[in-house]
Amino acid sequence: MIPIYRTVAELRAAARVWRAAGEVIGVVPTMGALHDGHLSLARRARAECDRVITTIFVNPMQFNNPEDLKKYPRTEAADAALLATVPVDAIFAPQPDEVYPEGFGSVVSVSGVSEPLEGKMRPGHFDGVATVVTKLFGMTLADRGYFGQKDWQQLQVVQKLARDLNLAVQVIGCETVREADGLAMSSRNLRLTVEGRAKAPVLYAAISAAALEIRAGHTDRMAIREAAETMREAGFERVEYIELRDAETLMPSDDPARPRRMLAAAWLDGVRLIDNIPV
Ligand code: PAJ
Repeated sequence: MIPIYRTVAELRAAARVWRAAGEVIGVVPTMGALHDGHLSLARRARAECDRVITTIFVNPMQFNNPEDLKKYPRTEAADAALLATVPVDAIFAPQPDEVYPEGFGSVVSVSGVSEPLEGKMRPGHFDGVATVVTKLFGMTLADRGYFGQKDWQQLQVVQKLARDLNLAVQVIGCETVREADGLAMSSRNLRLTVEGRAKAPVLYAAISAAALEIRAGHTDRMAIREAAETMREAGFERVEYIELRDAETLMPSDDPARPRRMLAAAWLDGVRLIDNIPV
């Protein structure tokens, strides 16, 4: 059985022993409802670290909408069973008042990279992410933190905060895990209808086609417009954004010499899907 710690004190006691023995600690922050995407991070951490802590915490501070927070799936027993297959050394699953006790009043706010795209659509979201990730790094005494490229902007926000605040944590971005048809794995995929699930891979297919065209020399705007049209024709209700950005700063970029990323968000069946790929 993998120990499940509920308090920072218990978690710290375990982490201190590992640290004192000179062991490298990897942390995989999650909100639970685990799937193979999450597990791929835990497996990578397992391969690269002496000790692996997976955190499961549905962080109220990063939700814009109280309904979404309430609706977020909570499947701890199933999550623990999946983590036992990796296996990880510890699960940290605190209650909100352990993380945000009475009187809590500090915010980590990362300027620049957290402002466009998801930041614009979900005000305050990245403050919530940056604050909880900073706290989780502190709580776990982590040497390494593992994050998915699926949430590319989040990964850049975390990279930047670790650099800006001189945290002694190496932030590692892991490849997006996809279903066989290309759809990026996400707990939200389960909310799609059967018809929606059949259409959903068009998001990845459309941005992949656009990226190919841009690499072949077509103009960004044309390629992006075609991708949006393909998605609408396939049945997406709304394409929120498809943008070609500097991969690190997330600012508009027409400099092919720098790494660029195409990022997209769109609604299908009332479910908001996001994806991104290198260009
Ligand atoms: P959550 O959505 O549970 O995701 C936890 C981690 O799993 C994130 O780093 C995310 O990018 C990664 N992940 C999700 N789907 C993936 C996929 N298909 N392939 C690869 N990695 C994937 O992201 C969060 O939680 C929260 O914002 C958190 C960082 C835990 C802070 O609360």
